[in-house]
Amino acid sequence: MQKNQVRKAVIPVAGFGTRLFPATKVVKKELFPIIDRDGRAKPVILAIIEEAISAGIAEVGIVVQPDDKEIFENLLKNPPKKELLEKLSPQNQEYSQYLEDLGSKITILLQEEQLGYGHAVFCAKDWVQNEPFLLMLGDHIYASDIEKSCASQVLDVYEQVNQNVVGLTTMPAEIIHKAGCITGVWQELNSILSVTQLYEKPTIEYAKQHLRVEGMAENDFLGIFGLYLLTPKIFDFLAEHINQNFRERGEFQLTSCLEKLRQEEGMTGYVVKGKCFDTGLPDAYRQTMIDFRNF
Ligand code: UTP
Repeated sequence: MQKNQVRKAVIPVAGFGTRLFPATKVVKKELFPIIDRDGRAKPVILAIIEEAISAGIAEVGIVVQPDDKEIFENLLKNPPKKELLEKLSPQNQEYSQYLEDLGSKITILLQEEQLGYGHAVFCAKDWVQNEPFLLMLGDHIYASDIEKSCASQVLDVYEQVNQNVVGLTTMPAEIIHKAGCITGVWQELNSILSVTQLYEKPTIEYAKQHLRVEGMAENDFLGIFGLYLLTPKIFDFLAEHINQNFRERGEFQLTSCLEKLRQEEGMTGYVVKGKCFDTGLPDAYRQTMIDFRNF
């Protein structure tokens, strides 16, 4: 294995998606369709898996609810029914073959109880083992501003700094109360910074007092983009919170464990050259459907 080479990605998709109820009563939000830039109608999860694989990731672990195992297996592991396959265009038959190859790189992991995003990440511990891994949100898709994909950019920064990396994007003050937010000290202006604090869903007042970043407009902050490169040390902090039943807003969260990871090992923030598209809220999903195809 090359130095710093990252082989595995984890995508948690076991949440209930309450903000998209009642659609999520019957369709997982990670299976909602988007039209990708290749013009295909794809479930969100597939676009995320493709982002990982195209960045050189060899194995992807997706964390699902036990009841959803079959539907994800149907998408990612099983060929279409013979009757459907025969009716597909030659291009889609080829794509179906490619899907089967992709499926061989995917492992389905279980989260027995929906105890939060951090808990879902912890469910990947035994599969990840002792390697750094790429963590990707299950309800965000990405479009790069440059030739290199967003996931590739994060992997490159990890290779460069050899430390935990959190992908970032500039967010206006009005929306940071919905996001994970960070602050730090620029190492490379507007690109790479040494993170000095992570904070989940700050109020505007808190952010203005504690999360300002030098050189940024007064109304702008750095929010979490949804791509992280983490060392397996994160599992120790998640285990600690789970064992102590330390919950925030009723769930085991990731951000407070990222803050502990930062304190112990250090963390680099990287402002990704690209855009993340949220699919987890009705209007955000609608806008993603419109904008993503042509970005
Ligand atoms: P969200 O914070 O979006 O939660 O999860 P959610 O439950 O899916 O959706 P809302 O907030 O109720 O609308 C972020 C990611 O973590 C996964 C989700 O599937 C999503 O990809 N997740 C969340 C889990 O895998 N398990 C959980 O217990 C919670």
